Amino acid sequence: MAKSTPAIPTTTADPRRRATIPASGGDPAALLAEMQAMRAEDADWQGGRTWSMVYYIGPEHHAFLKQAHNLYFAENGLNPMAFKSLKRMESEVVQMSASMLNGGRDTVGTMTSGGTESILLTVKAARDRARKSRPWILRPELVAPKTIHVAFDKACHYFNVKPRYIDIGPDYRADVEAMRKAIGRNTILVAASAPQYPQGVIDPIAELGEICEAKGVPFHVDACFGGFLLPWIEKLGHDIPTFDFRVPGVTSMSADVHKFGYAAKGASVILYRDMSYLKHQFFVSTDWPGGIYASPSMPGTRPGGPIAAAWAAMKSVGEAGYLELAREAVAAAQELRDGVEAIEGLTVLGAAHSTVVAIGTTDGAVDIYAVADVLQDKGWSIDRQQTPACLHCTVNAHNRPQVPTFLVDLKEAAAHVAAHPELASEGNAAMYGMMAKVPVRGLVKLSVQKVMESMYGPDGTVPDLSQLGAAEDDGFVLQFMHKYGDQAMEMLDRVNGFRASIGGRLRRK
Ligand SMILES: Cc1ncc(COP(=O)(O)O)c(C=O)c1O
Repeated sequence: MAKSTPAIPTTTADPRRRATIPASGGDPAALLAEMQAMRAEDADWQGGRTWSMVYYIGPEHHAFLKQAHNLYFAENGLNPMAFKSLKRMESEVVQMSASMLNGGRDTVGTMTSGGTESILLTVKAARDRARKSRPWILRPELVAPKTIHVAFDKACHYFNVKPRYIDIGPDYRADVEAMRKAIGRNTILVAASAPQYPQGVIDPIAELGEICEAKGVPFHVDACFGGFLLPWIEKLGHDIPTFDFRVPGVTSMSADVHKFGYAAKGASVILYRDMSYLKHQFFVSTDWPGGIYASPSMPGTRPGGPIAAAWAAMKSVGEAGYLELAREAVAAAQELRDGVEAIEGLTVLGAAHSTVVAIGTTDGAVDIYAVADVLQDKGWSIDRQQTPACLHCTVNAHNRPQVPTFLVDLKEAAAHVAAHPELASEGNAAMYGMMAKVPVRGLVKLSVQKVMESMYGPDGTVPDLSQLGAAEDDGFVLQFMHKYGDQAMEMLDRVNGFRASIGGRLRRK
């Protein structure tokens, strides 16, 4: 990152002043320098210190992607008649993805702006298909394991589908029997992951596919994360569960080219077994005075850059390149797993199906959120997860050189936190810890809503999480936590202990 670039005063430095379009245009070079300086505060992904969000394989590929993207910077995929070359590239990306995931001759699909859009469309298409084929369903339902990506929750929220989240097994994978029981007459779609994001394990796709096929229910495999990784891991000879269109019951799959496909951001693929599913994704309007309007996915204007860069990435990396990148990423993940297991108090959660390493604690002696705070202070960007509390590392080939340094820092952080248990009730750790423990989730939601309102309010600033609750309108939970700190944590532990013992007794009866 541009850490050495001198800070240049920004035009919105005064927080009370709201940004306006400058009266006259600025100097492009000065503006670029200003943007470069602003980036100094951001996560250091080029240095391999970011364990999620960025998929990067080096400066050469990066520069090439930019060229491909720039070539189609102005083009609009909305009208395939006007931009035939974009349509051709989209079709080829879809076909290459379908063959990678063992689709058949009839497999069809479209590109989308990312995993979330692919998932939104899957749920919308399943709902609309059910409206035609099973019109008696008044309250459509989705059945999925609890670990399914949250974009499904968003889709259910947007499209008025009731989500039924099913408990997972001790291996973090979908519980096949519980899923079978949950599928009912209102089920319009079953979904599972290959792999799920939190622990990186692949759900039992073959078993679930068999059930869905027998019941005649569409089955989506969310391979947004692993679609461009698992095929290569399998080809390298690793024994992983079958996860794709080879399973007859699988009717659709999503795979993100902007993740392990190493394309530019804004590129995912949604695939269906055949057109009888895809046709419910399309939107056609015939009566608008602006003309007859047909669109395959959610946006109107479809930026050409991400489509072009996805095509260019797949063609330039090629199968040999993807295999090599997967080999490096798997090796890096294994080194990280082994290193974590050797650290007192820490353990890795879930089987090694992918290159995710989820770091939890063995006996709760080390507060994992406090470990995350220490790592953050050391310049690492790492995500905190809940139920169970753990940290998430998405491991790329690019992270491999950093693994030894990270393990040294992680070991130090774990030892430091074990020696200073009070860190669990300070800074971000306190916030994440308490948020995870509050039993009434609606209260947590209200508080997070408050954070969003502040972040997207008139000033649009990113709040300091450790200071949340200090302001009067921060919401009850945040204020409570801010005011009572340690005591609030103890109280929540007692409440949760009581709930667990009641739950245990009820289950035994
Ligand atoms: C399994 C899975 N599905 C869906 C998504 C959503 O993808 P996006 O962030 O591109 O919308 C993610 C993102 O990490 C994911 O891991």
